[in-house]
Formats: sequence, structure tokens, C-alpha cells
Amino acid sequence: MSVRFATIGTSVITRNFAAATRLSGRATITVAHSRDRLRAQQFAAEIGAGRGESDLEAVLSAADVDAVYVASPNTAHAEHARAALAAGKHVLCEKPLVFTAAQAQELFDLARDRGVVLLEAMRSAFDPGMAAIRELLPTLGPVRLANLRYVQRSSRYERVLAGERVNIFDPAVGGGALFDLGVYVASPCVDLFGEPQTVTSAPIELPTGADAAGVIVAGYPGLVATLTYSKITASALPSEIQGEAATLVIDHISRPRRLRVEPLGSEPVEHVVDGTLDAGEDVDGNLAYEVVAFADLVESGQWPEGPTARSLGAARLIDAARAAG
Ligand SMILES: NC(=O)c1ccc[n+]([C@@H]2O[C@H](COP(=O)([O-])OP(=O)(O)OC[C@H]3O[C@@H](n4cnc5c(N)ncnc54)[C@H](OP(=O)(O)O)[C@@H]3O)[C@@H](O)[C@H]2O)c1
Repeated sequence: MSVRFATIGTSVITRNFAAATRLSGRATITVAHSRDRLRAQQFAAEIGAGRGESDLEAVLSAADVDAVYVASPNTAHAEHARAALAAGKHVLCEKPLVFTAAQAQELFDLARDRGVVLLEAMRSAFDPGMAAIRELLPTLGPVRLANLRYVQRSSRYERVLAGERVNIFDPAVGGGALFDLGVYVASPCVDLFGEPQTVTSAPIELPTGADAAGVIVAGYPGLVATLTYSKITASALPSEIQGEAATLVIDHISRPRRLRVEPLGSEPVEHVVDGTLDAGEDVDGNLAYEVVAFADLVESGQWPEGPTARSLGAARLIDAARAAG
């Protein structure tokens, strides 16, 4: 089955998504939405969508649209996802789905009520590298410590330093490092270890009021996970999961490709993850895997228990981190 998407948002991520739909072979884009009619038409032509449209209601009531890909700014996700779900469309919504677990629960309830799929586009969760980590985890012995890291200095930080208002650093549109990169460490933390019992947090704020970096400490019985995220610094350090029998070193938590298991007292073993779908034009690499996962869910007609629980769990972790910070 091929899912017929409408897209909302005309930035780079929607271009990457269009490439990912082609790579996946499981979806097409019927309509590209922009608030500006001309941009909608131009953008549709650029990404190979069937048509461009500026009237959102017309998009959401179109008979040739099965699903909506929401890639608007974070502050518009709830409104766009709610409208699409209410119109009976499946929704793939960019991360973070919304800002709180309560808001997420409301949208998941609406989706379940309408009998459609709502999936947070947490690309790393559907990546084969994450599946490989899940498989390797039991070989580490009792896991005691984890350092999950997503540190990437944003090129747009220079503009912030020059006094410009930039969306991804602007709290008024839901910008900031926690909701941008922090979600990439919160999600696998819940995915791999479940929801923590304790959460402490130390965010670093810019004068704009946006958080720019921070560390969350998630406590479990016998295990502590440190989640580090930053948009203003750079790092050469990988992520790591330390068990009593071995340590797992992960090259990149949002797109794991090289996984090195370092057992106590024996030689390290490197696992190279086959990311075959990465080989094509999709510059963000692993977006295509989430398109495949979404198409599978739409096709199965089953409620996505696992992804829903992960999104809600990660949202509760972030709620707790914000309350603690
Ligand atoms: N998965 C990933 O790897 C990844 C990477 C980057 C970003 N993202 C996510 O993608 C989403 C978009 O991020 P972005 O940085 O691309 O956002 P952005 O540039 O601020 O906005 C994206 C587009 O949304 C449209 N839009 C619709 N309603 C809007 C509104 N009320 N206000 C402003 N724009 C509106 C605009 O297109 P029109 O003006 O044409 O309507 C705009 O170009 C975010 O949720 C972000 O977290 C994900």
C-alpha cells in the first residue's frame, strides 16, 4: 500500500521528507500546503507533489489524501495535528509532537477515537541502528550507567549572537535545545530503559529565554542515565551504555551506524548497521525508515501501542525535566 500524504510546512525538513517518501517506496505526496498560495505551488513542483494548496481546510477534506505530515513550527503542531485527526486523516507529526504529556495524550485520544494513526516522527526510533542497540543491550550484563548525547552546535547560533530572532532559539515558537535535540536523547532513554523513577535537570538558558543546552539525570533502580544535549557547543564524544559485563559505544544516538561492544577482558567487537535506505537522496538519512513504519501502521489498521507509549513516556520525562530545571 502507498500512503497518499499532504504536507504542512515548506522548510528543509519537508524537502527531506519528500525524498524519504521516494526512497521508502511506500508513500507519495498528493498536496503540499503553504500559507502562501504561490509558495505552495512552487514548493509542490520542487518536491514532486501533485499540487500546491494554501487552503488548509481544502487539504484536510481532500479525498486523495490519506495522511498529513505536519512539519510546521512546534507551536503549531497541536493545532495542525488536531485538525487533521478531526478530519479523519492519519497524522505523522514532526518531533516534538507537542510540549507536554497531557497535550500528547489528548491528541492520541482523538486519534484512537477517529480510528486513525498518530505517530510522532521520532526518526531515530525507527532506525535499524536503534533495533540493533535493543538487541545488544542484554549482552552488556546489568546496565548501570548510560550517557546519551546529542551535541551539535547550530549554524544559526551565530545569528542569535548577532542579535537576530531565530525560530529554533525562540521560545515564543517552541524553540530551544530541549525540544529540538533533547528529545533525541529522552526518547531512546525511555525506549531502552523505560520511564525513570527520578529526574533532575540543569538547563542553560540564553538571554532570549530559550534553553540552549543542558543535562538531565534520569534515575532507575541500580541505573543512572545522563542525557546531554546542546545547540551551542560541539563534542567528539559518542554515546555510551555501561553494563557490568560490557560497554556499548554508539557513534550517533539519532542515527546509530557503528556500535562497538567492549566486553570486560576481551577484544572489542564492532557492529556496522546496514542502513541501506540511507544510500539514496535522503540527506537526513533515516527519515525513510519512519515513513515505512508509518505506512506499515496505516496498513495494519492496529493501534500503535509501542510508539504511543514511547512518545508519552518521553513527554513525561521532559515534563519532569522542565519541572526540575
Ligand atoms: N526530524 C528531523 O530531523 C527534523 C529536522 C528539522 C526540523 N524538524 C522539525 O520540523 C518542524 C519544522 O521545523 P523548522 O525549523 O523547519 O520550522 P520553521 O522553518 O519555523 O517552519 C516550517 C514551516 O512551517 C510553515 N508554517 C505553518 N504554519 C506556520 C505558523 N503558524 N508559523 C510559522 N510557520 C508555519 C511555514 O511554511 P509556509 O510559510 O510555507 O506555510 C514554515 O516554512 C519542527 O517541529 C522541527 O522540530 C525535524
